[in-house]
Amino acid sequence: MDVPDAIQSRRSIKRFTERPVTREEIERILEAGVLAPNHRMTQPWRFLVLGPRARRAYGEVLGDRKARRVEDPAAAEAVRRKVADEHAALPAMVGVAVKLAADAETREEDYAAAFMGIQNMALTALAMGLGTHLKTGAVMDDPRARAALGLRDDERLVAILNIGEPAEAAPPKPRTPAAELTRWLP
Ligand SMILES: Cc1cc2nc3c(=O)[nH]c(=O)nc-3n(C[C@H](O)[C@H](O)[C@H](O)COP(=O)(O)O)c2cc1C
Repeated sequence: MDVPDAIQSRRSIKRFTERPVTREEIERILEAGVLAPNHRMTQPWRFLVLGPRARRAYGEVLGDRKARRVEDPAAAEAVRRKVADEHAALPAMVGVAVKLAADAETREEDYAAAFMGIQNMALTALAMGLGTHLKTGAVMDDPRARAALGLRDDERLVAILNIGEPAEAAPPKPRTPAAELTRWLP
């Protein structure tokens, strides 16, 4: 599969088969991540590969956050359990963090570099027959989520990447053509 084909066929995959993702597969995906461009070779990325216990711990935090929006206590508890169970059952889950630089400009560049690494990881996973789903949001800064991933004080969690064999053929989401979003300057 060449790179344009991989870019064309990549989709966010929300349902995975039960086929486990091996340590070797995860290592290959992470090695693609570290090849991303990064200004001044800061290599800011740090990877947290979550086993079932850590996935459940993270899922409990996320489930608890979602359950807060549910009024009925029994329904809230069901949400909590469902999200925790879903996370524990994921074939693979990688937290991507950046080591925080001292200055704001480098912190911003490092955050951007981390996402270039994530795209490398997603496309490499795709070429290996695996699918990915990138997750972010306010939970990234939740101290309980940080604790579940064992983050250090000088690390910022930027995203979670779920990885597994796709159990669905996700259709492409319509995109506005680049031509409509481009201004060519003389
Ligand atoms: C920075 C970033 C954050 C994202 N966060 C989430 C998320 O928190 N939850 C989610 O379901 N999808 C998340 N996504 C996935 C997008 O929803 C998805 O890429 C988009 O709907 C386009 O679908 P596609 O990836 O299949 O092309 C995120 C994507 C990016 C780039």
